[in-house]
This record gives sequence, structure tokens and C-alpha cells, in this order.
Amino acid sequence: MQNVKEYLSEHKDRFLNELIELLKIPSVSADSAFSQDVLDTAETVKTRLEEAGCDVVEIHETAGYPIVYGTKIINPDLPTVLVYGHYDVQPADPIDLWHSPPFEPVIKKTSLHPEGAIYARGACDDKGQMYMHVKALEFMVKTDQLPCNVKFMIEGEEEVGSNNLSIYVAENKEKLANDIILISDTGMIANDVPSITTGLRGLSYVEVEVTGPNRDLHSGLYGGAVANPINILTKMIASLHDENNHITIPGFYDKVEELSDNERAEMAKAPFNLDNYQKALDIDSVYGEKGYSTNERNSIRPTLDVNGIWGGYIGQGAKTVIASKAYAKISMRLVPNQDWREITELFKTHFESIAPKGVIVKVKPHHGGQGYVTPIDTIAYQAASKAYETTFGKKPIPQRSGGSIPIVSLFEKELGSKTILMGFGLDSDAIHSPNEHFGVWNYFKGIETIPYFYEYFTQMSSE
Ligand code: BES
Ligand code: MN
Ligand code: MN
Repeated sequence: MQNVKEYLSEHKDRFLNELIELLKIPSVSADSAFSQDVLDTAETVKTRLEEAGCDVVEIHETAGYPIVYGTKIINPDLPTVLVYGHYDVQPADPIDLWHSPPFEPVIKKTSLHPEGAIYARGACDDKGQMYMHVKALEFMVKTDQLPCNVKFMIEGEEEVGSNNLSIYVAENKEKLANDIILISDTGMIANDVPSITTGLRGLSYVEVEVTGPNRDLHSGLYGGAVANPINILTKMIASLHDENNHITIPGFYDKVEELSDNERAEMAKAPFNLDNYQKALDIDSVYGEKGYSTNERNSIRPTLDVNGIWGGYIGQGAKTVIASKAYAKISMRLVPNQDWREITELFKTHFESIAPKGVIVKVKPHHGGQGYVTPIDTIAYQAASKAYETTFGKKPIPQRSGGSIPIVSLFEKELGSKTILMGFGLDSDAIHSPNEHFGVWNYFKGIETIPYFYEYFTQMSSE
């Protein structure tokens, strides 16, 4: 692979500016106030794919936001890489906590990003990382070095559960046929510790509602005599973990894959500094399931977390009231072999069963998906590993991530393809949080590394 660094330095400013333009469009899929912006983003992605060298780019409508599909087929006998990414972003709230407006990208230097980082919603998740693939394609096409076929499938509903993409994938197997799926929507350990994500957790997301009396009550006149839905809800939630921070839902751990001592020892070799971890979060201690390290707790172990809880009076001052209803949103991160639908059922049955008399409890499943583990003894993993080695000068460490991209297991089921997760973000890039950013160095490192994957994968596939 020649000239990639040269090409990058020649086009550096344009590559940055194009990403900045993309980040200015607030493609928040969760909030219908932004629906025109989400659609505009799809159009922009289409144009950029055409400019980068795709022969055909189409916008495929779904019941929700469209999928941008593009191809460059150079020879049907050569392997085909299918690139997946998403152009939608998480809501920017709470806006007050941003140091600069979320959709007005700025570049600022940080200690972890001495060459600067782009601050904007979606900078890392996933516009910045998705766009690395568009620019890598541009480089390969413009310098006549694209070694195989490529297809792009960029969706606009990842952050809201990819429901329509699931249907699209099942209905377009032929169109999406590929030899490997390539995704940059995860992270790596550090800029000097490259890693390849080999696992994603599954997810079950539910909302619960506790109803007590049929109306809000004076907390003096009725307090002590009726069930207070907020008291009950918090008590029920507290009971979901025991004193060892084990989840108490019967059957929850039945299918959890226990790693061998060997595998755990291998995992423990990944560099990790507890002190820095705690300092970065301003906490005096980590917290979690007994018997597991921090890195295990956030990757190979399932979890249950309240993501939001509300009810009653939260306005200024005090109002003496017992609310009629209390609510919470709860996510469970799952590990391979746990079935998300089964876990959702177990949660529902258990949560309803622990409701005391005097309240009615409803559990509403939201969305979910299966976890994923990718083997490392494949040509695709070896090609990715060699690509990192070429550009980082170091062999990457395989690392299981705690995050979820539910569609990945569905790709395997429907298309029979494995996925390589080449993420270039850092955990500290604040995805989903205020002040999300993506290192300029990481952006260009990604663009530099991706073409080597194509080269090695094509080479190794023919051996
Ligand atoms: N890109 C993330 C997932 C991710 C980030 C995986 C970092 C590994 C490392 C993705 O956009 C995401 O946010 N997924 C959601 C689930 C989805 C169903 C909303 C998640 O993990 O919460
Ligand atoms: Mn993402
Ligand atoms: Mn996300």
C-alpha cells in the first residue's frame, strides 16, 4: 500500500472540514424535532460516497429513517467487504454541560489528544468513525489501489435500536452478500495500546411503571396509610442486587458463559491503571460484582442499571405529595449465550412478582439484542491485526467491549458473515455524554489503517 500517509497529509484539511460539515447536521434519531436533519444527513452521506468513488449509491427507504447503500464492485471473483456504520447520533442533552455547542464542532487540544480533538455530538459515535471508511475508500479509489469489492450500508437508526435495519437485512440478503463485515463503532485501549474489539454485550432495555392510588395525594393526609409508588419502586430496584452486587433475578445467570482461568489471565494482561481510571471519573473507588476485576465487570459480566427514574414533584421548593405513579428505565447488559428475549421475560416475571399489595407494576420491554464474540483465528482477524501492526508498529490486543451493537449478531444470523470491529475511539471520548470528541490523530490513524485491512484481507483470502 503506497502513499497513504502522503495522501493524508495532502488532503488533511479537506478531510477534517468534510467531517466538520457532517457533524453540523443534528441527526438525532430519537427526537422527531430533528427528522429533517436526519434525512439531510442521509443525503449528505450519499453524496460523499459518490464523490469518494462508489459506482452506485442508493437511498433505501424503510418504515423509519433510510439506509444509505453504496457499492464499488471491481471484480465479482474478488472478496467483498461490507462496511456498516450509522449516521444518526444520540440526543445532545443535557446541553448546559457542553463547553461548546454540540452541533458547532470545534477542535481543542487535551492531554490525551495533544494533536487536538473534534468536539461535537457524533464526532466519535459514529460519524467520525464511519467517515474514516469513506475517506479510506477515496484514497484507495483515487490512487487505484482498491484491492477488492466494497459495499456500504450506513443506517440512521442505530441509536434507537435498528429495528428497520433488521427487516432490511432479512429482505436484502443478496444485495448485502459479503465475505466480511467491517465496522468502526467501538474503541481501543489507548493511542499507544491498539486493540481490536472481539466482543460486544447484548442488551435488554425495559421501562417499569408502578401505580399506587388513582391520584396524587396529600402526603400528610394519606402518608403512612397507602403504598407510595416511589418508595416501593426504589425498594424493588434496590432488591435487584444482593450484597455481592450479584443480580437477584432467578435464572439470570443460567446461560452466562464462565471464562476459563486461562482466558481471564489473558484478559488481565491488557494494560489497566485503576488509579487513573478512578481519577478520570473523580471517584474514590470502583464498585461492582464481587470476584471480578473492573475490566471483567464491564465486558464479560452481565449487568443491570437504572438509566432514568422519575415521578412526584421535582420542581422548585417543596410540595407535599404522594405521587400516583413512579417510573424507571432499566438496561441489562448481557453476555454471549444469554438470550435477550428470555432475559426480558425473566425480568418481567420477577419484577411483577416482587410487587407488594397496594400497587400495580407494569413492565414494558423497549428493545434489545444479542451479544457477539468474534473468533481471532480467522483470516479477517489476522488481516486486521496485521493492518494495526503496520500503522501502529505494535500488535493489537484483542479486547471485549461492554457496549452493544445488537445488529452485529443479526448480521451473522441473516448473512452468515463475521464482523471485524476496528474501533479507533477512546473510552474517555465521552460518547453519549456532553463534550463528546474524537481525536484528530485517531481519525487519521483510522483512515491510514483501514486500507491495509483491505489489502491483507484480499491477499490472505487468495492464499
Ligand atoms: N457505538 C455504540 C456502541 C459501542 C460503543 C460499543 C463503544 C463498544 C464500544 C453504539 O452506537 C451504541 O451506543 N449502542 C447502544 C445500544 C443501542 C441499541 C442503542 C449502547 O451500547 O448503549
Ligand atoms: Mn455507535
Ligand atoms: Mn451510540
